[in-house]
Amino acid sequence: MIGPSILNADLAQLCDESQRLLDLGADYLHLDVMDGHFVPNLTFGHPVVKCLRNKIPKAFFETHMMVSKPEQWIEPMAEAKVDQYTFHVEPVQDVPEICRKIKEAGMKVGLAIKPGTSVDVVKDYLDFADLVLIMTVEPGFGGQKFMADMMPKVAWLRENYPDLNIEVDGGVGPSTIDQCSKAGANWIVSGTAVIKADDPKSVISSLKKSVQT
Ligand code: DX5
Ligand code: ZN
Repeated sequence: MIGPSILNADLAQLCDESQRLLDLGADYLHLDVMDGHFVPNLTFGHPVVKCLRNKIPKAFFETHMMVSKPEQWIEPMAEAKVDQYTFHVEPVQDVPEICRKIKEAGMKVGLAIKPGTSVDVVKDYLDFADLVLIMTVEPGFGGQKFMADMMPKVAWLRENYPDLNIEVDGGVGPSTIDQCSKAGANWIVSGTAVIKADDPKSVISSLKKSVQT
């Protein structure tokens, strides 16, 4: 599964860019929501996601919630018809409770961890989650360098949880995808490498090929 991050796209053309990436073979859209607190950057929230959903009714939307209070946005994102609500566990006291609320609102649950967070932190919650997102850059900005030293987290999860969906995000592109797929990631977020490519279609298909083999 390849999900482009539209963070570094021309956000004034958000809808056209998103549709173009889906037409070029993207399996889902990875929508980076930032609140200026959990990360030192701001993007967009549920009003924008809702407008995008009105124009793109069918595609799978994952929101990557880089926010201090993930519980606050569950209802609005569910109303915007988000399919998967992926939130960072770091600022959260009661992870199972948030997972329960997300499911109750009709969305799938993703648990995200920053590079400095041990994978041990999520292992008690895997029964409540559909996916774990291993960040391969510090969250906040697109276009950063891939952190290869996150791959042991992916490999450990894959070894112990063969059926778990494991997503990687940050600096992933044709030159780093093989490390991710070898470690066992099966959901791949790629921002700059797809958006800035001369031929995004061939980048998406080469990323897919690497994950499938
Ligand atoms: C970083 C975001 C990522 C990022 C991906 O905080 O969560 O989704 O934009 O972009 P690239 O692939 O450029 O690192
Ligand atoms: Zn992201």
